[in-house]
Amino acid sequence: MANSPTVWVLNGPNLNLLGEREPDTYGGETLADIEKRCAKVAKQAELALEFRQTNHEGELVAWIQESRESAAGLAINAGAYTHTSVAVHDALRLLTIPIVEVHLSNIFAREEFRHHSYVSAAATGVICGFGGDSYILALQALNNIISDEN
Ligand code: DQA
Repeated sequence: MANSPTVWVLNGPNLNLLGEREPDTYGGETLADIEKRCAKVAKQAELALEFRQTNHEGELVAWIQESRESAAGLAINAGAYTHTSVAVHDALRLLTIPIVEVHLSNIFAREEFRHHSYVSAAATGVICGFGGDSYILALQALNNIISDEN
């Protein structure tokens, strides 16, 4: 969408296997299903959407850096790097755009090692526990912030 603000949605490791990965925890939707739903919501909000997934920490860091140049807002599900990556935290700290941390599962109701997030301290807000809807809620939150800014 020409001239529309672009919202980036970045996904970390193992999220490419949604649908077959622990469906009791993450639901039956694939990442492509979630991307399709995000595209619909973005279109309705007149936002452009950049949706990516990687299994590599360095690539995720590079994309976060790249989003500085072209994103009006960022939703990020860093997967397991949420709980381990100072590099992801530091990259997010470089951004001045709104950041929403996203998780399909409620990380606070799961194993203790998932209760700490390196993303949270760099994020504007956190949405977790609503399955694929967490992404939709994150886009709505970003849209509200971006609309208020303009
Ligand atoms: C996740 C939660 C993380 O703890 C886990 O490592 C994931 C997915 C979620 O979306 O619920 O890969 O980020």
